Parts: sequence; C-alpha cells; structure tokens
Amino acid sequence: MFALCGTTFTNNSFSEVSRCLAQSKPQRIVCAPVVVAAARSNAKPSDRNASFIAGTALKETVEIAPAVKEPKSTVIGGVGDLYCEETVNEEHTITPSAISVASGYSLLRDPRYNKGLAFNEKERDAHYLCGLLPPVVVDQELQVKNVMQNLRQYEVPLQKYMAITDLQERNENLFYKVVIDNVEELLPVIYTPTVGEACQKYGSIFRRPQGLFISLKDKGRVLEVLKNWPEKKVQVIVVTDGERILGLGDLGCQGMGIPVGKLSLYTALGGVHPSACLPVTIDVGTNNEKLLKDEFYIGLRQRRATGQEYAELLDEFMTAVKQIYGEKVLIQFEDFANHNAFDLLDKYSPSHLVFNDDIQGTASVVLAGLLAALKKVGETLAEQTFLFFGAGEAGTGIAELIALEMSKQTGAPLDETRKKIWLVDSKGLIVRSRMETLQHFKRPWAHEHEPVKDLVTAVNVIKPTVLIGSSGVGRTFTKEVVGAMASINEQPVIFALSNPTSQSECTAEEAYTWSEGQAIFASGSPFPPFEYKGKVFVSGQSNNAYIFPGFGLGLIISGAIRVHDDMLLAASEALAAEVTWEDFEKGLMYPPFSNIRKISARIAAKVAAKAYELGLATLRPQPENLVAFAESCMYSPSYHSYR
Ligand code: NAI
Repeated sequence: MFALCGTTFTNNSFSEVSRCLAQSKPQRIVCAPVVVAAARSNAKPSDRNASFIAGTALKETVEIAPAVKEPKSTVIGGVGDLYCEETVNEEHTITPSAISVASGYSLLRDPRYNKGLAFNEKERDAHYLCGLLPPVVVDQELQVKNVMQNLRQYEVPLQKYMAITDLQERNENLFYKVVIDNVEELLPVIYTPTVGEACQKYGSIFRRPQGLFISLKDKGRVLEVLKNWPEKKVQVIVVTDGERILGLGDLGCQGMGIPVGKLSLYTALGGVHPSACLPVTIDVGTNNEKLLKDEFYIGLRQRRATGQEYAELLDEFMTAVKQIYGEKVLIQFEDFANHNAFDLLDKYSPSHLVFNDDIQGTASVVLAGLLAALKKVGETLAEQTFLFFGAGEAGTGIAELIALEMSKQTGAPLDETRKKIWLVDSKGLIVRSRMETLQHFKRPWAHEHEPVKDLVTAVNVIKPTVLIGSSGVGRTFTKEVVGAMASINEQPVIFALSNPTSQSECTAEEAYTWSEGQAIFASGSPFPPFEYKGKVFVSGQSNNAYIFPGFGLGLIISGAIRVHDDMLLAASEALAAEVTWEDFEKGLMYPPFSNIRKISARIAAKVAAKAYELGLATLRPQPENLVAFAESCMYSPSYHSYR
C-alpha cells in the first residue's frame, strides 16, 4: 500500500487513483507537484512493488487553461497546440500504460519517494519497510547535516560531484534539500567548474541514465526514443550536442553533464518539478581525437556530422518534442558551438518556445550585473563604452542586449546604441574593413576604425569603461590590460566570464591587485573573497543560474509560447533590483545566492508579466499577484507524509 493525496491504496484500486486525482485541487499543468509515480515502465505485475498496474489510460483531472483568444500573438505556430497533444488525457495514453506504486524494498530504491531513515514507524509498518531500515528514525534536517558532513570530507571536487549525484539517484528530495540549503557551497559542485571535469570524465563515471541520448542512429525514430522517457509532463528540456562544453571544447556525448546539471538548477533554484525536467544530448559524433581514442568514451565513435545530416536530426528532434510535449515545452539550447547555436535559435524561435542560455541567458545576467554596477558608479548605460574580448555566443549576445536596453532607456535607434560597443575576436578588433570575412553575428559590430591586433592596444585606443572577457582563453587580461583600464577609469568595470576557472581572463586577485583596488569585478567561475590593502573584496559571479531558472519559471507560470527579448530585459532589471547597497559595499554586482529562490520567483513574475503584456501568455486569467503565484508553484523538497 502506498498513500497518495490522503487516500490509502491497495492493489488494483485504479478507481481510487482516479478518485484521488479527481479530488485533488485542479491544477494548471505547470508546476503541479507530481503525486503519482506514473508510468515506471519497468514495473512488473508480479512485483509487490508494482502493486498497481493500470492497463488503461490515465485520466488526468488537470485543468488546462483555454487557449487565449486575445491579445493575438503574431508568432508562427499560434497559441494552440499544433498537435493537439498538450498533455496526457483520455485519448492519449501513457505508454507503457502503467502506474507503479512502490512499497517495501523498491520504495527505498525509488529516488522520487525514498526518504531513507526519515520514514517514521507508521510509514515503515504501512509500506513493508520493517527490517529494511535500522531502527532509528531521523528527520530531513539531520539527513542534510549528515550528507554535508560526508561531502565536506572529500577533497577532490569530482568526488563531491559523484557523491551528490549518487544522492540524487537515491533520494531526490534530500538531494534538492541539500542543494537548496547549501546553494553557495554546492553550486560549484553541481555546476561550473566541477561539472566541466565531470563531463571530461563522464564515460568513466557514467552509472545510470539521467537523461535521453539521441544519436544519429535514432534518425527516423526520434519520436519513439522520446517516448521511452518515463515522465510525460515535461515542461523544460535542456539539450546540448556537446560541441562547446563550457570553455572545454568538444566533449561529444559526454556533454550530458551539462543538461543534467542545468536542470538540477531549474529545480533547486527555480522550483520546476524534477519530473518536469528532461536532459537531452544529441550525439552526432565528436571531433575530439582524444575522446575518439578513449576506450571509455560513451558516444558515437565518428567525426561530427554536419550540414544536412545534422540539420535533419535536429529538425526531427524539435518536431518530435512539440508533438509529444506540446507548444509550451521550453527547449533550452546549451553549449552548442556558435556556428550552430545562432542558426538554431533563429530557425526555431518563430515556431518553438526556445531559449539559448549561452546567448540569451548570459546576456541577461551580465546586463543585470552592469545595471547594478552602474547604479554604484552613478552613471547610465549610455555613458559607457564597452569592449568585449571574444565575439562568440556570449559576447555578441551580451552586446546585443546591452544595445537593446540602451535603446530602450534613451530612445536612440539600435544602430546608434550598437556604436558604443566594440568587440575583439581572435583576429583582432572587429572593424568595417573585415566585414566580408566576418560571421553574420559579428557584422553589426563592425564599426569604422583602423585594424587593431592586440587587446592592450584596443583598450588604449577605444578607452572602454567596461571590459568584458568572453573568449574562452584564460590569462588574457594581463597586468598591462587591467592597468590600462584602471588608468582610463576611476572605477573600471571588468567581467572575466570565461569558464572554467582555468580559462578565466584573470582572477579576482589579479583584477583587484592590478587595478589597485579600483576595479568592479565579476567572473564566470567563482573566486574566493580577496583582501587587498585591508579591504575585503567579494567579487560577483555572473552565473547564468541567477537568470535561467527564474526566467524558465516565468515562462511556465504564464504558459508562454515564445521568448521575446523584452522578457530578457525584464529579467535583467528584476535581478539588478535585488542588489543592495550592502552588497555594493562588499564589491558585489549580484545579490547573494542564498536568497536565490525568492529572487527566481521575482524574476519569474516579471517575465510572466511581460509575457502577458506581449500577448504571449496562454494561461488565463492572469494571477493578480504574480510573485506569490510563482512562489506557490515552486517545488519544495520537504518530505510528504505517507499514510
Ligand atoms: P564562442 O566559441 O562562441 O566564442 C568565443 C569567441 O572568442 C570567438 O569570437 C573567438 O573568435 C574569440 N576568441 C577565441 N580565441 C581568442 C583569442 N585568442 N583572442 C581573442 N578572441 C578569441 O564561445 P562562447 O559561447 O561565447 O563562450 C566563451 C566563453 O564564455 C566560454 O569560456 C564560456 O564558458 C564562457 N561563458 C560564460 C558565461 C558566464 O559566465 N555566465 C556564460 C556563457 C559563456
């Protein structure tokens, strides 16, 4: 027996399950905590743990907001679900059609429901757990303390990563509770920089699937592969093809660590239910020779497919996703190389709810940091001159959003505001004379100027007030570069965004020392606080995790069907507004992470409000208090009582 929604079920009680679902408060399809372990495909009728197997369709009593009639959206695809398969319903059976309600030993091995030693005596009696656990009953707080104590004993970050991944596979609620309660300490473990090392060694440390691998071999049957995923109500997919993992380059199929990590953050920081998150890796091969020769490599052993072959697989995937999960599933592109990233975003933004975190998420978080830094400096965006070192996804994405915000603030045309922004790539300053050979996304930044080959000269001639590193090349903000910035500006704003730590353009220590404490500094990977001439500087981390979980939550709670640049600006402004004068005093451009769930809810509210304003939201009526609504939708990892 296993109780859900306050009803105790015995074997074969399908009607009870339906009744329970029917009794439960009607929920929007978003953020509804999953209360039934649906469709565990490996449940066997003979298994006591599979004590309930339904061969019929699962009738969900989920209220789906009617498609909004006005204001009318102008985007391709419209508001309605093109495939009429918005969610599981009577006509659309769960495949395989099974509800597995675990008890006994299997309950302890089901990460979604396992509570470990926190099962109380009644629960142990009711769910065949007696004897399977030692007598002691502990609460979740003590479990968290125990996990943290154990984690802190590992000196090697990858060991911490593996230990916490094990916990995720053992006890999902406890994993999220641990992460949420210790977010500042654990973010670098479950995400950058440690996740980078995990991806490099993913073949050796791979244990169980945490997401879907879709390879060239699956061409023609991607829809079937997607159906193998046990969860049917997916709201967010993070997908990579592994070609540009952090600043580490092509890691092929082993890039899976990235979607897995990002989605853990969607849940921990943005409150999206874990069952609504689907990590996907598209394996089209790898050009990484080392991996191709590695006996433990887990991907296709071939060089990357490109051109039509690549496009067809991606197209099949994008179509299948919408077919299975509907119009409102958010597809977040992650760590694609820039030659594909821009094209995919351009191609699918008119027809899908897509978001590229490397381009748009980075842009939004950096813009937020800038808005906050400028509040401290007491100047406006339009008064700045920007120089980027690195003109790829991150660099050009940030540049464009800054230009948009400047245009919004001043009313100047975008072409004008772009002129305040200069970019350097591997061939030097991007100038008009290079136009013919530039990739299309660099062209808006080709201003009239003499060619300049090196960064120090670029700093000296452009005289930027803000320097942003997004090249993926470490140690490039040398003493000379930082010194030049400090001699031009009283408070130079410097972002060293490249990840992981080894690729950072400079360290926090270098930025503060070489600028003699003048710099306002933020980085992509975290640096410890640094004391310089008696003052402790706590540098900001331009971590995309400030934005994307709240941004995604905002899309979900409004039922948004497309992403619009104005939503990114709304997210940046919401994040910037969270930085206090106390934070500024410490040198911070971002608020402390400890408050991130509240921050995410506030970002979500602003994004959702913008979606409603733009006519891109489909869930009606619009809640009066969007912050409270966002908070009420967020997944909480606290244990439920089982009767
Ligand atoms: P990308 O590959 O799209 O762009 C890299 C750019 O750097 C290209 O324009 C390239 O020409 C330029 N570049 C390469 N070598 C150079 C050199 N020696 N001198 C000057 N320019 C050079 O990569 P993407 O996606 O823009 O990422 C770049 C870096 O930013 C990565 O390390 C990534 O981890 C980091 N990043 C950090 C984020 C954050 O902190 N929030 C978010 C996204 C990316």
